Amino acid sequence: MSDTMRHHWLLLGACGWVLLILMFASKFINFNLRVPDDYGGKSEPLSWTVTATKLIKSLARELEKSEPQPAHQLPEGTVAVNGEDWQAVESERLELVSSVCRNGSLKNLTHTPIGKFVLDRIFVCDKHKILFCQTPKVGNTQWKKVLIVLNGAFSTVEEIPENVVHDHDKNGLPRLSSMSEKEIAERLNTYFKFFIVRDPFERLISAFKDKFLQNPRFEPWYKHDIAPAIIRKYRKNHMETTGLRFEDFIRYLGDPNHKRVDRQFGDHIIHWVTYVELCAPCDIKYNVIGHHESLERDAPYILKAAGIDHLVSYPTIPPGITSYNRTKVEQYFSGISKRDIRRLYARFHGDFRLFGYKEPDFLLN
Ligand SMILES: *[C@@H]1O[C@H](CO)[C@@H](O)[C@H](O)[C@H]1NC(C)=O
Ligand SMILES: *[C@@H]1O[C@H](CO)[C@@H](O)[C@H](O)[C@H]1NC(C)=O
Ligand SMILES: *[C@@H]1O[C@H](CO)[C@@H](O)[C@H](O)[C@H]1NC(C)=O
Repeated sequence: MSDTMRHHWLLLGACGWVLLILMFASKFINFNLRVPDDYGGKSEPLSWTVTATKLIKSLARELEKSEPQPAHQLPEGTVAVNGEDWQAVESERLELVSSVCRNGSLKNLTHTPIGKFVLDRIFVCDKHKILFCQTPKVGNTQWKKVLIVLNGAFSTVEEIPENVVHDHDKNGLPRLSSMSEKEIAERLNTYFKFFIVRDPFERLISAFKDKFLQNPRFEPWYKHDIAPAIIRKYRKNHMETTGLRFEDFIRYLGDPNHKRVDRQFGDHIIHWVTYVELCAPCDIKYNVIGHHESLERDAPYILKAAGIDHLVSYPTIPPGITSYNRTKVEQYFSGISKRDIRRLYARFHGDFRLFGYKEPDFLLN
């Protein structure tokens, strides 16, 4: 019996999916989709006697060593959306990620340890074996709602009170970091894993607007604690007394020593650190990386690939909100020095390369 077969049966036995599969013949196809990535040549169970850190490190090495997930292992056409081959687009993205991850000269910008910070970002849906890495400012609230419903704490997306979505004591959506090392390793190795990205600079603009200009969720610490700390360190002209300006924010983000400042801000930095730092895309083998710019195609694709499209749908996406707006990016960056923009790009270069976002040469040159 091949390893893959053996794992099929282990998984089936352990999870009682047999019943589900009998009930939904189509489910079996979705189930199959997960297997090639997750069992890339690895059959030895990890030793659970090592410490958490060691385990995570060895796990990271295992994941790194295993072959990049070849696109052809996904059965042709099974997850095509609207009759078109969106799967090819998704597969190309994963191939790009694995080739950029292997580029030694970008290693600093593409690799990150799978530590507590990353495990805190990943939400777990055990019922359907899904891991979702949160990348704020990219429509994550909607995905969290979808997963909360799947986990069963609420029966529809509409019923979830807004304040409960981000309250992980109440919403029944645990973080991967809340689990034991063994549980973490099992889930990283076998679950369907995804996250969503968008143009890195547009995301920073969105974070700046949301946290420092509008602050719609009433989170006073952004304006009262974080903004003054950034201004103290990065504002050129201290006679100026306005609130945080985009220029100050960019100087902070592009500072090669930003980590010293980050430490004061705790987990609030999730709104502006790189996707690499949030989700470790070169150290965890994700099955799908959605793009905000094509969310209309990606959302149904992800639901189908995760085998949950018959259970839940992604909330309606208002027209126009997902498209890249170059005019907006130009406006925000006008008046910011080339030096500061280049420093910013140097830090976010990994995100641009990994996810196929074009270098913003109109800002850099
Ligand atoms: C690796 O990245 C460097 C720096 O961006 C680039 O010049 C080089 O072409 C890349 N190598 C490969 C094999 O893609
Ligand atoms: C990579 O990281 C090391 C150690 O943090 C640093 O010394 C080096 O300058 C970095 N290289 C690049 C290209 O950023
Ligand atoms: C793009 O951004 C600009 C400036 O913020 C705004 O005026 C314009 O309406 C936006 N365009 C679209 C298509 O949303």
